[in-house]
Amino acid sequence: MSLQSQKGTALVTGASSGIGEAFARLLATKGINLILTARRQDRLQVIAQELAGPIRVDIINCDLSDKAGAERLIKAVEDLNVTVDILVNNAAVSGQSSFIDTSEDDLDELLVLNIRSLTQLTRYFLPGMKKRRLGKILNVASVAAFHPVPSLAQYAASKAYVLSLSEALAEELRGTGITVTALCPGVTLTQMVSGTTVSQLPETLVSTAEGVAQAGFDAMMDEQVVHIPGLVNEAAVMLSQFQPRRLIRNLGGLFARFNKGS
Ligand SMILES: NC(=O)c1ccc[n+]([C@@H]2O[C@H](COP(=O)([O-])OP(=O)(O)OC[C@H]3O[C@@H](n4cnc5c(N)ncnc54)[C@H](OP(=O)(O)O)[C@@H]3O)[C@@H](O)[C@H]2O)c1
Repeated sequence: MSLQSQKGTALVTGASSGIGEAFARLLATKGINLILTARRQDRLQVIAQELAGPIRVDIINCDLSDKAGAERLIKAVEDLNVTVDILVNNAAVSGQSSFIDTSEDDLDELLVLNIRSLTQLTRYFLPGMKKRRLGKILNVASVAAFHPVPSLAQYAASKAYVLSLSEALAEELRGTGITVTALCPGVTLTQMVSGTTVSQLPETLVSTAEGVAQAGFDAMMDEQVVHIPGLVNEAAVMLSQFQPRRLIRNLGGLFARFNKGS
């Protein structure tokens, strides 16, 4: 049975705002039941109240930057006694400071949330999906996954991990009925970039959360392994792949120094 005919249930992390909220709203229009998770319970409650009715919506308040967070979330999902058919690993932080100025706590928060929890959730839900020969995993990476980003070093490195893991898993799971998609958005107008220089880029260079969620959903249903929403983002990534790594590094460094000075 395909997910389209069965509808099923999606677990969306980071569903309280931005791209995660847009995913939740989009999946709801497809009749897919939702488990929404984030730290801000009040935001989740408002979204759930709006979407519940035609579909079942459960919310789980959870801090995934806590080392026990993913385990707690898994336990709470088990208590709901529902089968997760779609896992959207979306929650992340960007850490808007240079590596050396980042405190150990902030660094830990980023590594646990962006890498460890995403990995634990994926590892937990895969065996069930494999048994049922049905499942979709959508990991939200970034265009920053394709090259180093001075001044966002740990963020870009965490997204490179997400991209690499997703691509490898997609191959490992070929023929099992499970698909893995890495969604790699460029600058998207959400609270993550609000107040930063990139949020002031011209409209043609930035995406909306709704547009990114739609592109991600289409790519997931289309079983694409890597998807970069937006022609400009796609072209920029393509072009950068053919340049010497040193040039890309140096350009990134120049941009970071310019940004710091502006
Ligand atoms: N915006 C961009 O330009 C851009 C570009 C490329 C990729 N992305 C990726 O897109 C994804 C979504 O980001 P966004 O732009 O939509 O940003 P956002 O609006 O800040 O959303 C981030 C979500 O993650 C949740 N979150 C943050 N810390 C958490 C924690 N410790 N535990 C659990 N949940 C946590 C937030 O909810 P709570 O605060 O309620 O916990 C929120 O729902 C991220 O993976 C990001 O890296 C964004």
